[in-house]
Amino acid sequence: MAEPKENLQMEKIVSLCKRRGFVFQSSEIYGGINGFWDYGPLGAELKRNVKELWWNAMTRQRDDVAGLEATIIMSPAIWKASGHVDTFSDPMCDCKKCKKRHRADQLCEDQGLTLGKNAAGKFELPAGTKCTGCGSTDLTEPRPFNLMFKTYVGPVESDDNVAYLRPETAQAIFAQFKNVLDTSRQKVPFGIAQVGKAFRNEVTPRNFTFRSREFEQMELEFFIKPDEVIEALYGSVASGSSRVCENADDPRSDEARLPQPNWGWQVWHQYWVEERVRFYEGIGLARDTLGFHHQTPEELAHYARACTDILFKFPFSKKDANGKVTGDELEGIAARSDFDLSQHQRFSGKPMGVFDDELRTAWGKLPKEKQDDLWRRYYEHRKNYLTKSAKPDETTEQIQKQATEDANGLAKGQYIPHVIEPSAGVDRLILALIAKAYSETTETDAKGKTETTYVMKFHPRVAPIKVGVLPLLKNKPELVKKALAVRDLLRPWMNVYYDDGGSIGKRYARQDEAGTPFCVTIDFDTLGEKPELLDTVTLRYRDDGRQERLKIAELRDWLLAKIR
Ligand code: GAP
Repeated sequence: MAEPKENLQMEKIVSLCKRRGFVFQSSEIYGGINGFWDYGPLGAELKRNVKELWWNAMTRQRDDVAGLEATIIMSPAIWKASGHVDTFSDPMCDCKKCKKRHRADQLCEDQGLTLGKNAAGKFELPAGTKCTGCGSTDLTEPRPFNLMFKTYVGPVESDDNVAYLRPETAQAIFAQFKNVLDTSRQKVPFGIAQVGKAFRNEVTPRNFTFRSREFEQMELEFFIKPDEVIEALYGSVASGSSRVCENADDPRSDEARLPQPNWGWQVWHQYWVEERVRFYEGIGLARDTLGFHHQTPEELAHYARACTDILFKFPFSKKDANGKVTGDELEGIAARSDFDLSQHQRFSGKPMGVFDDELRTAWGKLPKEKQDDLWRRYYEHRKNYLTKSAKPDETTEQIQKQATEDANGLAKGQYIPHVIEPSAGVDRLILALIAKAYSETTETDAKGKTETTYVMKFHPRVAPIKVGVLPLLKNKPELVKKALAVRDLLRPWMNVYYDDGGSIGKRYARQDEAGTPFCVTIDFDTLGEKPELLDTVTLRYRDDGRQERLKIAELRDWLLAKIR
Protein backbone atom coordinates (compact mmCIF):
# COMPACT_ATOMS: atom_id res chain seq x y z
CA MET A 1 0.00 0.00 0.00
CA ALA A 2 1.31 3.45 -0.86
CA GLU A 3 2.38 5.50 2.16
CA PRO A 4 0.28 8.58 2.75
CA LYS A 5 2.14 11.65 1.48
CA GLU A 6 2.54 13.24 4.89
CA ASN A 7 4.29 10.15 6.26
CA LEU A 8 6.64 10.18 3.30
CA GLN A 9 7.54 13.73 4.24
CA MET A 10 8.18 12.63 7.83
CA GLU A 11 10.32 9.74 6.59
CA LYS A 12 12.44 12.16 4.59
CA ILE A 13 12.82 14.42 7.59
CA VAL A 14 13.75 11.56 9.92
CA SER A 15 16.25 10.32 7.36
CA LEU A 16 17.90 13.74 6.95
CA CYS A 17 17.99 14.15 10.72
CA LYS A 18 19.99 10.96 11.02
CA ARG A 19 22.18 11.51 7.93
CA ARG A 20 23.18 15.03 8.96
CA GLY A 21 23.41 14.45 12.70
CA PHE A 22 20.38 16.29 13.98
CA VAL A 23 18.61 13.44 15.78
CA PHE A 24 19.59 9.81 16.37
CA GLN A 25 17.62 7.01 17.94
CA SER A 26 18.78 6.55 21.53
CA SER A 27 20.82 3.35 22.11
CA GLU A 28 20.67 2.62 18.39
CA ILE A 29 23.47 0.04 18.43
CA TYR A 30 21.32 -2.07 20.77
CA GLY A 31 18.21 -1.77 18.64
CA GLY A 32 17.02 1.51 20.15
CA ILE A 33 14.60 2.22 22.97
CA ASN A 34 11.12 3.38 22.12
CA GLY A 35 10.36 7.02 22.93
CA PHE A 36 13.95 8.19 23.53
CA TRP A 37 16.01 10.29 21.14
CA ASP A 38 19.52 11.74 21.11
CA TYR A 39 20.54 14.99 19.49
CA GLY A 40 23.64 14.75 17.27
CA PRO A 41 26.18 17.52 16.66
CA LEU A 42 23.84 19.78 14.66
CA GLY A 43 20.78 18.94 16.74
CA ALA A 44 22.60 19.73 19.97
CA GLU A 45 23.52 23.19 18.67
CA LEU A 46 20.00 23.80 17.38
CA LYS A 47 18.50 22.80 20.73
CA ARG A 48 20.94 24.91 22.70
CA ASN A 49 20.11 27.94 20.54
CA VAL A 50 16.38 27.46 21.04
CA LYS A 51 16.68 27.13 24.80
CA GLU A 52 18.98 30.13 25.05
CA LEU A 53 16.65 32.26 22.93
CA TRP A 54 13.72 31.28 25.12
CA TRP A 55 15.66 31.95 28.32
CA ASN A 56 16.85 35.27 27.02
CA ALA A 57 13.40 36.39 25.88
CA MET A 58 11.66 35.18 29.02
CA THR A 59 14.14 36.24 31.71
CA ARG A 60 17.06 38.46 30.75
CA GLN A 61 15.08 40.76 28.49
CA ARG A 62 12.45 41.31 31.18
CA ASP A 63 12.45 42.83 34.64
CA ASP A 64 9.55 40.73 35.87
CA VAL A 65 10.79 37.14 35.48
CA ALA A 66 13.39 35.28 37.53
CA GLY A 67 14.97 31.94 36.67
CA LEU A 68 15.11 28.61 38.47
CA GLU A 69 16.97 25.35 37.94
CA ALA A 70 15.51 22.66 40.18
CA THR A 71 16.19 18.94 40.55
CA ILE A 72 14.48 16.30 38.47
CA ILE A 73 13.75 14.11 41.48
CA MET A 74 11.86 15.93 44.22
CA SER A 75 9.90 14.96 47.29
CA PRO A 76 7.07 12.63 46.21
CA ALA A 77 4.78 14.80 48.34
CA ILE A 78 4.99 17.38 45.54
CA TRP A 79 3.33 14.97 43.10
CA LYS A 80 0.69 14.05 45.63
CA ALA A 81 -0.18 17.74 46.10
CA SER A 82 -0.14 18.50 42.37
CA GLY A 83 -2.53 15.64 41.66
CA HIS A 84 -0.07 13.71 39.49
CA VAL A 85 0.04 10.63 41.75
CA ASP A 86 -3.74 10.23 41.63
CA THR A 87 -4.77 11.56 38.25
CA PHE A 88 -1.85 11.87 35.82
CA SER A 89 -2.79 8.92 33.65
CA ASP A 90 -3.80 7.96 30.14
CA PRO A 91 -6.38 5.30 29.31
CA MET A 92 -4.65 2.18 28.00
CA CYS A 93 -6.12 -0.94 26.38
CA ASP A 94 -4.64 -4.12 24.91
CA CYS A 95 -5.58 -6.22 21.92
CA LYS A 96 -6.43 -9.68 23.26
CA LYS A 97 -5.46 -11.26 19.94
CA CYS A 98 -2.11 -9.72 18.92
CA LYS A 99 -1.31 -8.19 22.37
CA LYS A 100 -0.62 -4.77 20.89
CA ARG A 101 -0.98 -2.00 23.48
CA HIS A 102 -2.88 1.19 22.64
CA ARG A 103 -3.67 4.53 24.13
CA ALA A 104 -7.42 4.16 24.03
CA ASP A 105 -8.25 7.81 23.28
CA GLN A 106 -5.79 7.91 20.37
CA LEU A 107 -6.99 4.57 19.04
CA CYS A 108 -10.55 5.92 18.91
CA GLU A 109 -9.47 9.28 17.50
CA ASP A 110 -7.51 7.61 14.69
CA GLN A 111 -10.72 5.81 13.69
CA GLY A 112 -12.91 8.88 13.85
CA LEU A 113 -14.45 7.69 17.15
CA THR A 114 -14.61 9.21 20.61
CA LEU A 115 -13.64 7.38 23.77
CA GLY A 116 -16.66 7.39 26.07
CA LYS A 117 -17.30 6.95 29.78
CA ASN A 118 -19.92 4.73 31.38
CA ALA A 119 -22.30 5.71 34.18
CA ALA A 120 -19.67 4.78 36.80
CA GLY A 121 -17.22 7.19 35.16
CA LYS A 122 -15.05 4.41 33.70
CA PHE A 123 -13.69 4.65 30.16
CA GLU A 124 -15.54 2.66 27.52
CA LEU A 125 -14.49 1.90 23.93
CA PRO A 126 -17.19 2.69 21.38
CA ALA A 127 -18.51 -0.30 19.40
CA GLY A 128 -16.39 -1.12 16.36
CA THR A 129 -13.09 0.07 17.75
CA LYS A 130 -10.41 -2.00 16.03
CA CYS A 131 -6.82 -2.90 16.93
CA THR A 132 -4.56 -1.09 14.45
CA GLY A 133 -2.16 -4.04 14.60
CA CYS A 134 -4.42 -6.94 13.53
CA GLY A 135 -7.88 -5.45 13.00
CA SER A 136 -9.44 -7.41 15.87
CA THR A 137 -12.23 -5.79 17.87
CA ASP A 138 -11.43 -7.97 20.87
CA LEU A 139 -9.84 -5.31 23.09
CA THR A 140 -9.59 -5.03 26.87
CA GLU A 141 -11.55 -2.31 28.63
CA PRO A 142 -9.44 0.86 28.91
CA ARG A 143 -7.75 1.29 32.28
CA PRO A 144 -5.84 4.31 33.60
CA PHE A 145 -2.07 4.08 33.41
CA ASN A 146 -0.03 6.54 35.48
CA LEU A 147 2.56 8.24 33.30
CA MET A 148 5.13 9.00 35.96
CA PHE A 149 8.40 7.05 35.98
CA LYS A 150 8.96 5.60 39.42
CA THR A 151 12.29 5.03 41.12
CA TYR A 152 13.68 4.57 44.64
CA VAL A 153 15.86 6.97 46.55
CA GLY A 154 18.56 5.18 48.55
CA PRO A 155 19.47 1.52 48.63
CA VAL A 156 16.16 0.11 49.87
CA GLU A 157 13.40 -0.49 47.33
CA SER A 158 10.50 0.08 49.72
CA ASP A 159 7.28 2.09 49.40
CA ASP A 160 8.76 4.66 51.77
CA ASN A 161 11.56 5.36 49.31
CA VAL A 162 9.51 5.75 46.13
CA ALA A 163 10.27 8.85 44.11
CA TYR A 164 9.33 10.02 40.64
CA LEU A 165 11.14 11.55 37.70
CA ARG A 166 9.34 14.87 37.25
CA PRO A 167 6.64 14.76 34.56
CA GLU A 168 6.75 18.56 34.23
CA THR A 169 9.13 21.28 35.37
CA ALA A 170 6.29 23.48 36.64
CA GLN A 171 5.82 21.96 40.10
CA ALA A 172 9.33 22.86 41.25
CA ILE A 173 8.48 26.47 40.48
CA PHE A 174 5.42 26.34 42.73
CA ALA A 175 7.32 24.53 45.47
CA GLN A 176 10.09 27.19 45.38
CA PHE A 177 7.73 30.13 44.93
CA LYS A 178 8.37 31.56 48.40
CA ASN A 179 12.15 31.19 48.21
CA VAL A 180 12.28 32.95 44.85
CA LEU A 181 9.94 35.69 46.09
CA ASP A 182 12.08 36.24 49.17
CA THR A 183 15.39 36.34 47.31
CA SER A 184 14.66 37.97 43.96
CA ARG A 185 13.09 41.27 45.08
CA GLN A 186 10.19 40.53 42.75
CA LYS A 187 6.61 41.51 43.54
CA VAL A 188 3.41 40.12 42.03
CA PRO A 189 2.94 40.27 39.06
CA PHE A 190 6.13 38.40 38.28
CA GLY A 191 7.17 35.09 36.83
CA ILE A 192 9.56 32.21 37.45
CA ALA A 193 11.01 30.45 34.42
CA GLN A 194 12.61 27.07 34.12
CA VAL A 195 14.01 24.92 31.31
CA GLY A 196 14.68 21.27 31.90
CA LYS A 197 14.02 17.60 31.41
CA ALA A 198 10.65 16.02 32.01
CA PHE A 199 9.74 12.34 31.82
CA ARG A 200 6.48 10.63 30.96
CA ASN A 201 6.03 6.94 30.46
CA GLU A 202 3.85 7.54 27.40
CA VAL A 203 1.75 4.50 26.44
CA THR A 204 2.46 4.99 22.76
CA PRO A 205 5.31 7.37 21.95
CA ARG A 206 4.93 8.47 18.35
CA ASN A 207 5.59 10.88 15.54
CA PHE A 208 9.36 10.90 15.96
CA THR A 209 10.28 13.23 18.84
CA PHE A 210 6.78 14.74 19.09
CA ARG A 211 5.67 12.37 21.83
CA SER A 212 8.73 11.10 23.66
CA ARG A 213 9.23 9.55 27.06
CA GLU A 214 12.11 11.84 27.94
CA PHE A 215 11.83 15.41 26.71
CA GLU A 216 12.51 18.99 27.70
CA GLN A 217 10.15 21.74 28.68
CA MET A 218 10.47 25.52 28.83
CA GLU A 219 7.94 26.70 31.37
CA LEU A 220 7.00 30.02 32.87
CA GLU A 221 4.71 30.39 35.84
CA PHE A 222 3.62 34.00 35.82
CA PHE A 223 2.01 34.97 39.12
CA ILE A 224 -0.70 37.62 39.08
CA LYS A 225 -3.12 39.23 41.50
CA PRO A 226 -6.60 37.74 41.66
CA ASP A 227 -9.24 39.87 39.93
CA GLU A 228 -10.82 40.75 43.29
CA VAL A 229 -7.49 42.26 44.41
CA ILE A 230 -7.16 44.24 41.18
CA GLU A 231 -10.66 45.56 41.66
CA ALA A 232 -9.94 46.57 45.24
CA LEU A 233 -6.78 48.39 44.12
CA TYR A 234 -7.90 50.01 40.88
CA GLY A 235 -11.69 50.07 40.99
CA SER A 236 -12.14 47.79 37.97
CA VAL A 237 -10.40 45.04 36.02
CA ALA A 238 -9.23 45.61 32.45
CA SER A 239 -10.72 42.95 30.24
CA GLY A 240 -10.40 42.11 26.57
CA SER A 241 -11.41 39.76 23.83
CA SER A 242 -9.69 36.42 23.97
CA ARG A 243 -8.90 35.86 20.29
CA VAL A 244 -6.46 38.64 19.41
CA CYS A 245 -3.55 36.43 18.57
CA GLU A 246 -5.08 34.81 15.51
CA ASN A 247 -5.31 37.87 13.37
CA ALA A 248 -2.05 37.97 11.45
CA ASP A 249 -2.85 41.36 9.89
CA ASP A 250 -3.60 43.03 13.14
CA PRO A 251 -1.27 41.89 15.91
CA ARG A 252 -1.62 43.97 19.02
CA SER A 253 0.42 47.15 18.97
CA ASP A 254 3.51 47.40 21.13
CA GLU A 255 1.77 49.98 23.25
CA ALA A 256 -1.22 47.73 23.87
CA ARG A 257 1.20 45.00 24.94
CA LEU A 258 2.77 47.01 27.76
CA PRO A 259 1.57 45.39 30.99
CA GLN A 260 -0.75 47.58 33.02
CA PRO A 261 -1.45 47.35 36.76
CA ASN A 262 -5.20 46.86 36.26
CA TRP A 263 -4.90 43.78 34.04
CA GLY A 264 -6.99 40.84 35.19
CA TRP A 265 -6.28 37.22 34.41
CA GLN A 266 -7.95 37.34 30.98
CA VAL A 267 -5.74 40.11 29.65
CA TRP A 268 -2.63 38.52 31.14
CA HIS A 269 -3.58 35.28 29.46
CA GLN A 270 -3.96 36.97 26.08
CA TYR A 271 -0.76 38.89 26.66
CA TRP A 272 1.20 35.69 27.12
CA VAL A 273 -0.37 34.02 24.08
CA GLU A 274 0.69 37.02 22.01
CA GLU A 275 4.19 37.11 23.55
CA ARG A 276 4.68 33.46 22.75
CA VAL A 277 3.45 33.86 19.16
CA ARG A 278 5.90 36.72 18.72
CA PHE A 279 8.66 34.50 20.02
CA TYR A 280 7.81 31.86 17.41
CA GLU A 281 7.68 34.49 14.67
CA GLY A 282 11.11 35.69 15.74
CA ILE A 283 12.64 32.27 15.11
CA GLY A 284 11.04 31.60 11.76
CA LEU A 285 7.60 30.17 12.52
CA ALA A 286 5.33 32.74 10.92
CA ARG A 287 1.85 33.24 12.34
CA ASP A 288 0.27 31.46 9.40
CA THR A 289 2.22 28.26 10.13
CA LEU A 290 0.68 28.20 13.59
CA GLY A 291 -2.80 27.28 14.71
CA PHE A 292 -4.74 27.96 17.90
CA HIS A 293 -6.96 25.77 19.94
CA HIS A 294 -9.00 27.40 22.69
CA GLN A 295 -9.90 24.60 25.04
CA THR A 296 -13.61 24.17 25.58
CA PRO A 297 -15.03 24.11 29.13
CA GLU A 298 -15.28 20.30 28.81
CA GLU A 299 -11.60 20.03 27.88
CA LEU A 300 -10.33 22.33 30.63
CA ALA A 301 -8.86 20.92 33.82
CA HIS A 302 -11.28 21.66 36.66
CA TYR A 303 -9.02 24.34 38.17
CA ALA A 304 -8.19 26.03 34.84
CA ARG A 305 -10.07 29.08 33.63
CA ALA A 306 -8.77 29.05 30.07
CA CYS A 307 -6.13 27.32 27.99
CA THR A 308 -4.96 28.24 24.52
CA ASP A 309 -2.82 25.74 22.70
CA ILE A 310 -0.43 27.05 20.07
CA LEU A 311 -0.32 24.48 17.28
CA PHE A 312 2.08 23.85 14.44
CA LYS A 313 1.10 22.18 11.18
CA PHE A 314 3.41 19.15 11.30
CA PRO A 315 3.58 16.80 8.30
CA PHE A 316 1.65 14.24 10.38
CA SER A 317 -1.04 16.70 11.52
CA LYS A 318 -4.49 15.48 10.60
CA LYS A 319 -7.48 17.26 9.12
CA ASP A 320 -10.20 18.29 11.53
CA ALA A 321 -13.93 17.66 11.07
CA ASN A 322 -14.08 20.61 8.62
CA GLY A 323 -11.28 19.18 6.49
CA LYS A 324 -8.81 21.81 7.76
CA VAL A 325 -5.35 21.04 9.14
CA THR A 326 -5.10 23.02 12.35
CA GLY A 327 -1.94 21.38 13.64
CA ASP A 328 -0.62 19.71 16.79
CA GLU A 329 0.31 21.26 20.10
CA LEU A 330 3.62 23.08 20.46
CA GLU A 331 2.76 24.89 23.64
CA GLY A 332 -0.15 25.37 26.00
CA ILE A 333 -0.86 28.69 27.73
CA ALA A 334 -3.09 28.00 30.69
CA ALA A 335 -4.76 30.26 33.24
CA ARG A 336 -4.49 27.96 36.25
CA SER A 337 -6.10 30.18 38.92
CA ASP A 338 -4.53 29.76 42.38
CA PHE A 339 -4.85 25.99 42.30
CA ASP A 340 -1.19 24.99 42.42
CA LEU A 341 -0.04 27.31 45.20
CA SER A 342 -3.18 26.47 47.16
CA GLN A 343 -2.49 22.75 46.84
CA HIS A 344 1.09 23.15 48.06
CA GLN A 345 -0.10 25.32 50.94
CA ARG A 346 -2.58 22.63 52.00
CA PHE A 347 -0.26 19.68 51.57
CA SER A 348 2.91 21.25 53.01
CA GLY A 349 1.24 23.32 55.70
CA LYS A 350 3.47 26.25 54.64
CA PRO A 351 1.79 29.53 53.69
CA MET A 352 2.02 30.29 49.97
CA GLY A 353 0.18 33.59 50.04
CA VAL A 354 1.71 37.04 49.68
CA PHE A 355 1.27 40.23 51.66
CA ASP A 356 0.52 43.42 49.78
CA ASP A 357 0.51 46.61 51.83
CA GLU A 358 -1.14 48.58 49.03
CA LEU A 359 -4.06 46.16 49.09
CA ARG A 360 -4.42 46.53 52.85
CA THR A 361 -4.54 50.34 52.53
CA ALA A 362 -6.86 50.28 49.50
CA TRP A 363 -9.21 47.83 51.21
CA GLY A 364 -9.58 50.13 54.20
CA LYS A 365 -10.74 52.94 51.91
CA LEU A 366 -13.36 50.88 50.02
CA PRO A 367 -17.07 51.49 50.67
CA LYS A 368 -18.65 48.73 52.75
CA GLU A 369 -20.79 47.43 49.82
CA LYS A 370 -17.67 47.05 47.64
CA GLN A 371 -15.81 45.26 50.42
CA ASP A 372 -18.76 42.91 50.89
CA ASP A 373 -19.04 42.25 47.16
CA LEU A 374 -15.34 41.48 46.73
CA TRP A 375 -15.26 39.48 49.96
CA ARG A 376 -18.19 37.36 48.77
CA ARG A 377 -16.67 36.67 45.34
CA TYR A 378 -13.29 35.76 46.79
CA TYR A 379 -14.99 33.59 49.42
CA GLU A 380 -17.00 31.75 46.73
CA HIS A 381 -13.88 31.16 44.67
CA ARG A 382 -11.95 29.79 47.65
CA LYS A 383 -14.89 27.66 48.80
CA ASN A 384 -15.22 26.26 45.31
CA TYR A 385 -11.55 25.32 45.21
CA LEU A 386 -11.57 23.89 48.75
CA THR A 387 -14.68 21.82 48.02
CA LYS A 388 -13.23 20.32 44.83
CA SER A 389 -9.90 19.57 46.50
CA ALA A 390 -11.30 18.44 49.83
CA LYS A 391 -9.79 15.40 51.53
CA PRO A 392 -12.40 12.72 52.36
CA ASP A 393 -12.50 13.62 56.06
CA GLU A 394 -13.00 17.37 55.53
CA THR A 395 -16.44 18.69 56.48
CA THR A 396 -18.44 21.50 54.87
CA GLU A 397 -18.02 23.54 58.06
CA GLN A 398 -14.24 23.19 57.90
CA ILE A 399 -14.27 24.25 54.26
CA GLN A 400 -16.46 27.27 54.95
CA LYS A 401 -14.27 28.25 57.92
CA GLN A 402 -11.15 28.11 55.76
CA ALA A 403 -12.79 30.06 52.90
CA THR A 404 -13.89 32.70 55.43
CA GLU A 405 -10.34 32.98 56.75
CA ASP A 406 -9.01 33.30 53.19
CA ALA A 407 -11.52 36.03 52.31
CA ASN A 408 -10.80 37.85 55.59
CA GLY A 409 -7.15 37.90 54.47
CA LEU A 410 -7.97 40.49 51.77
CA ALA A 411 -8.52 43.16 54.40
CA LYS A 412 -5.08 42.36 55.82
CA GLY A 413 -3.50 42.60 52.36
CA GLN A 414 -3.14 38.83 51.97
CA TYR A 415 -3.98 36.62 49.00
CA ILE A 416 -2.73 33.60 47.08
CA PRO A 417 -1.50 34.64 43.61
CA HIS A 418 -3.11 33.23 40.50
CA VAL A 419 -0.94 31.98 37.67
CA ILE A 420 -0.69 32.09 33.89
CA GLU A 421 1.45 29.26 32.56
CA PRO A 422 3.03 29.28 29.08
CA SER A 423 4.43 25.75 28.82
CA ALA A 424 6.40 24.78 25.72
CA GLY A 425 8.15 21.58 24.66
CA VAL A 426 11.70 22.01 23.39
CA ASP A 427 11.67 18.83 21.34
CA ARG A 428 8.38 19.63 19.64
CA LEU A 429 9.69 23.05 18.76
CA ILE A 430 12.88 21.57 17.34
CA LEU A 431 10.79 19.19 15.25
CA ALA A 432 8.63 22.09 14.04
CA LEU A 433 11.73 24.11 13.12
CA ILE A 434 13.21 21.16 11.26
CA ALA A 435 9.94 20.45 9.41
CA LYS A 436 9.60 24.14 8.51
CA ALA A 437 13.22 24.43 7.39
CA TYR A 438 13.27 21.29 5.25
CA SER A 439 13.33 21.92 1.53
CA GLU A 440 14.39 19.71 -1.35
CA THR A 441 14.90 20.37 -5.03
CA THR A 442 15.26 17.68 -7.66
CA GLU A 443 16.93 18.60 -10.93
CA THR A 444 17.75 16.57 -14.03
CA ASP A 445 20.84 17.60 -16.00
CA ALA A 446 21.41 17.47 -19.78
CA LYS A 447 22.61 13.87 -19.53
CA GLY A 448 19.40 12.85 -17.77
CA LYS A 449 21.06 12.46 -14.37
CA THR A 450 18.73 13.36 -11.56
CA GLU A 451 20.00 14.92 -8.36
CA THR A 452 18.18 16.03 -5.25
CA THR A 453 19.61 18.79 -3.10
CA TYR A 454 18.48 19.61 0.41
CA VAL A 455 18.48 22.98 2.10
CA MET A 456 17.55 23.45 5.75
CA LYS A 457 16.21 26.99 5.78
CA PHE A 458 16.54 27.72 9.50
CA HIS A 459 16.14 31.24 10.74
CA PRO A 460 19.70 32.53 11.38
CA ARG A 461 18.87 32.88 15.10
CA VAL A 462 18.36 29.15 15.56
CA ALA A 463 20.69 27.80 12.85
CA PRO A 464 23.20 25.36 14.39
CA ILE A 465 26.12 26.85 12.46
CA LYS A 466 25.94 30.56 11.77
CA VAL A 467 28.65 30.87 9.16
CA GLY A 468 30.84 28.60 7.08
CA VAL A 469 34.37 29.90 6.47
CA LEU A 470 35.85 28.49 3.29
CA PRO A 471 39.26 29.12 1.71
CA LEU A 472 38.82 28.89 -2.06
CA LEU A 473 41.70 26.40 -2.31
CA LYS A 474 43.24 24.40 0.46
CA ASN A 475 46.67 24.08 -1.16
CA LYS A 476 47.35 27.81 -1.12
CA PRO A 477 48.85 28.61 2.29
CA GLU A 478 48.06 32.33 2.01
CA LEU A 479 44.36 31.59 1.44
CA VAL A 480 44.28 29.08 4.30
CA LYS A 481 46.09 31.45 6.65
CA LYS A 482 43.65 34.26 5.90
CA ALA A 483 40.62 31.95 6.20
CA LEU A 484 41.81 30.69 9.59
CA ALA A 485 42.24 34.28 10.70
CA VAL A 486 38.63 35.02 9.67
CA ARG A 487 37.46 31.91 11.52
CA ASP A 488 39.31 33.00 14.67
CA LEU A 489 37.91 36.51 14.37
CA LEU A 490 34.31 35.21 14.36
CA ARG A 491 34.63 32.21 16.66
CA PRO A 492 34.30 33.98 20.01
CA TRP A 493 30.97 35.39 18.84
CA MET A 494 29.20 32.57 17.05
CA ASN A 495 29.37 28.96 15.93
CA VAL A 496 31.67 28.93 12.89
CA TYR A 497 32.46 25.96 10.68
CA TYR A 498 35.75 25.97 8.83
CA ASP A 499 35.73 23.74 5.77
CA ASP A 500 38.47 23.32 3.18
CA GLY A 501 37.53 19.88 1.85
CA GLY A 502 36.27 19.39 -1.73
CA SER A 503 35.03 21.79 -4.38
CA ILE A 504 33.49 25.05 -3.28
CA GLY A 505 30.12 23.87 -4.66
CA LYS A 506 30.23 20.72 -2.52
CA ARG A 507 31.13 22.76 0.52
CA TYR A 508 28.22 25.14 -0.06
CA ALA A 509 25.90 22.15 -0.46
CA ARG A 510 27.14 20.65 2.83
CA GLN A 511 26.43 23.90 4.66
CA ASP A 512 23.01 24.17 2.96
CA GLU A 513 22.08 20.76 4.35
CA ALA A 514 23.26 21.78 7.79
CA GLY A 515 21.15 24.93 7.52
CA THR A 516 24.07 27.39 7.72
CA PRO A 517 22.59 30.73 6.63
CA PHE A 518 25.85 32.32 5.42
CA CYS A 519 29.16 31.20 3.98
CA VAL A 520 32.18 33.39 3.46
CA THR A 521 34.81 32.50 0.91
CA ILE A 522 38.36 33.73 1.09
CA ASP A 523 39.73 34.05 -2.44
CA PHE A 524 42.56 35.75 -4.27
CA ASP A 525 40.78 39.07 -4.23
CA THR A 526 40.79 38.84 -0.43
CA LEU A 527 44.57 38.74 -0.69
CA GLY A 528 44.56 41.85 -2.92
CA GLU A 529 44.68 40.44 -6.46
CA LYS A 530 42.29 43.25 -7.24
CA PRO A 531 43.68 45.90 -4.88
CA GLU A 532 40.28 47.51 -4.30
CA LEU A 533 39.00 44.16 -2.93
CA LEU A 534 41.85 43.58 -0.47
CA ASP A 535 40.54 42.19 2.84
CA THR A 536 37.05 41.57 1.55
CA VAL A 537 35.29 38.19 1.31
CA THR A 538 32.50 36.72 -0.79
CA LEU A 539 29.44 36.31 1.35
CA ARG A 540 26.93 33.75 0.09
CA TYR A 541 23.31 33.54 1.21
CA ARG A 542 22.02 30.00 1.75
CA ASP A 543 18.44 30.45 0.60
CA ASP A 544 18.96 31.94 -2.85
CA GLY A 545 22.68 31.51 -3.47
CA ARG A 546 23.08 35.28 -3.81
CA GLN A 547 26.61 36.57 -3.31
CA GLU A 548 28.06 39.90 -2.31
CA ARG A 549 31.36 41.33 -1.23
CA LEU A 550 31.90 42.39 2.37
CA LYS A 551 34.89 43.85 4.22
CA ILE A 552 36.40 41.50 6.79
CA ALA A 553 36.41 44.41 9.24
CA GLU A 554 32.59 44.63 8.94
CA LEU A 555 31.88 40.92 8.90
CA ARG A 556 31.43 40.26 12.62
CA ASP A 557 28.91 43.04 13.19
CA TRP A 558 27.08 42.24 9.98
CA LEU A 559 26.63 38.63 11.07
CA LEU A 560 25.76 39.50 14.66
CA ALA A 561 22.95 41.73 13.43
CA LYS A 562 21.47 38.76 11.55
CA ILE A 563 21.80 36.09 14.22
CA ARG A 564 20.71 37.97 17.34
N1 GAP B 1 2.98 22.23 33.17
C1 GAP B 1 2.01 22.03 32.15
C2 GAP B 1 2.33 20.93 31.25
O1 GAP B 1 3.25 20.16 31.48
P1 GAP B 1 1.55 19.76 29.05
O2 GAP B 1 0.57 20.22 28.01
O3 GAP B 1 1.37 18.41 29.60
O4 GAP B 1 1.49 20.87 30.19
C3 GAP B 1 3.49 21.14 28.02
O5 GAP B 1 3.01 19.90 28.46
C4 GAP B 1 4.29 20.96 26.75
O6 GAP B 1 5.29 19.96 26.93
C5 GAP B 1 3.47 20.47 25.56
O7 GAP B 1 2.83 21.54 24.89
C6 GAP B 1 4.53 19.83 24.71
O8 GAP B 1 5.19 20.79 23.92
C7 GAP B 1 5.51 19.27 25.73
N2 GAP B 1 5.26 17.83 25.92
C8 GAP B 1 4.35 17.25 26.72
N3 GAP B 1 4.42 15.91 26.63
C9 GAP B 1 5.40 15.63 25.75
C10 GAP B 1 5.97 14.42 25.23
N4 GAP B 1 5.55 13.23 25.63
N5 GAP B 1 6.98 14.51 24.33
C11 GAP B 1 7.43 15.72 23.93
N6 GAP B 1 6.93 16.89 24.39
C12 GAP B 1 5.94 16.85 25.28
